[in-house]
Amino acid sequence: MTISAKSAAILFLFGCISWSSASAQKTDGLRSSGRDWWKHAVFYEIYPRSFADSNNDGVGDLRGIASKLDYLKGLGVDAIWISPCFPSPQVDFGYDVSDYENIDPMYGTLADFDFLASEAKKRNIHIILDFVVNHTSDQHKWFLDSKSSRTSAHRDWYIWRDGKGSGQPPNNWVSTFGGPAWKFDPTTNQWYYHFFYPEQPDLNWRNPAVQAAMFDVTRWWYKRGVSGFRLDAVDTLFEDPNLKDNPVRRPGKNDFGDPFLENKYNTKLPEVHDVLRGLRKIANEYDAVLIGETWTANVAELDEYYGKGNDELQLPMDFLFTMVNKLSPAEFRKQIAEVNAASGWPTFVISNHDIRRSYDRYGDGKHNDQIAKLMAALYLTLRGTPILYYGEEIGMKTTPPTRLEDVKDPIGRKGWPGEKGRDGERTPMQWNDSANAGFSAAKPWLPVPDTYKTHNVADEAKNPDSILAFYKRVLSLRHSNKALLDGDYKALNESDSNVLSYLRVHNDQAVVVVLNMSATPQRSILPLKANGFASAKRLLASGNSSLQGSVVSLPPYGVFIGQLAK
Ligand code: NOJ
Repeated sequence: MTISAKSAAILFLFGCISWSSASAQKTDGLRSSGRDWWKHAVFYEIYPRSFADSNNDGVGDLRGIASKLDYLKGLGVDAIWISPCFPSPQVDFGYDVSDYENIDPMYGTLADFDFLASEAKKRNIHIILDFVVNHTSDQHKWFLDSKSSRTSAHRDWYIWRDGKGSGQPPNNWVSTFGGPAWKFDPTTNQWYYHFFYPEQPDLNWRNPAVQAAMFDVTRWWYKRGVSGFRLDAVDTLFEDPNLKDNPVRRPGKNDFGDPFLENKYNTKLPEVHDVLRGLRKIANEYDAVLIGETWTANVAELDEYYGKGNDELQLPMDFLFTMVNKLSPAEFRKQIAEVNAASGWPTFVISNHDIRRSYDRYGDGKHNDQIAKLMAALYLTLRGTPILYYGEEIGMKTTPPTRLEDVKDPIGRKGWPGEKGRDGERTPMQWNDSANAGFSAAKPWLPVPDTYKTHNVADEAKNPDSILAFYKRVLSLRHSNKALLDGDYKALNESDSNVLSYLRVHNDQAVVVVLNMSATPQRSILPLKANGFASAKRLLASGNSSLQGSVVSLPPYGVFIGQLAK
């Protein structure tokens, strides 16, 4: 099973926007810079180990990121989300934080962070940090104190319980990363709970002291210039205090040899919304944004993360969109319509550091570059905020390890060969065609995919037909077109099973997007009159897509984007 499907499976078990009418809207061109700045912004996820290595030790760092800000600005990026760069034993590559208010020496120092923040500010690029809210590292001073004795000051900061009997954990919960979700600690003869690795003990969010300390972490970073957080694994914050056993979802065993349980009593508890409201209140004081890692079973569940009074997450990521794992106009149409009908602003992603890259998830092996442009045209022209994953814009492919001994991600070692882990989507950024793709002078921590000779920033920047050139054009259009930024979404030609088309309509302006999701040429008739428009003109196209009157002709996987006029 791939991690995309797996994440979904694993983590499952686990109009109009009206927030703050009081906030004034300022603009930089068409970019918003008031409290709602994130609505018009383009976000870009950086996996810091793999982006750019300034000190040539084989691992990326903050100075490396700073050196690429001009590239990101040129691409059309307004905000970077940096996956965890805090001190960490790196068991889960930073998602096991041992100090929330510092930088891991591997990535630099707080002074390097300040330098990055000031350079980003000069370019009007916001910095978003990754806040691992569910758990800390087992090396965090809070946990070290917590485990030291049953009466320690931090004992109740984590979930400690007696076992059911000798050698028996408190209940049947399993870790999403394999094995029991409880670890016995002989110092105090109790078990502690960990939804992820044993080195990632869950915080006890029912303890007000935990809430206060974690809320303070956000203030600390806001004061240092951070514009928001991506909240990790929010649905796992609370557990049933009675620790009821989870029901079995289906017979059999997963790749880790564990039963398939429904995470009924340890995920998605309603208390999470109180925490999100608390975090949002603080975020509002700093005009900051909260992005959620929100794996949901359906849009109704996703909708809850906006909060009943639009007072929780501004940008809960719509992972249901990433689960449309084929070029199906009908399935995308359905998903887009549903998320548009939700009560908040949609957030689109097509890949990230836990999901196989979109280049090969959608690619057919023959038209992958065209398909990469098609997918860009889709998620960058929808009503909502897109989050790019580094390397998406140059067509980086997933490169999973082929031998167990090469696997770095622990879940890949544990679940091999069914589960190969997430190394494949975390390989070094391909900057040019020199050694190590220009990422580092040293051997990179993960191997560079063999496609770096054909898919790299330097070469694609020179080629007007490249995926990178296409991303730049779509993003520049998006930033300058009111209909693409704020227009309503309206599906067109809904019975077409090959071509996905839609309008973005803003007052009397409209943009039409026509995407051929098939391997054969297609013709599509634009229903101009029916929508109150008289004519269309080409804004952007891929391949030799063309327009005659109201008929768009598209090559396989071709894209046509046009402006409609009254
Ligand atoms: C979700 C993160 O995206 C993933 O990489 C990490 O392993 C888990 N949360 C645990 O923090």
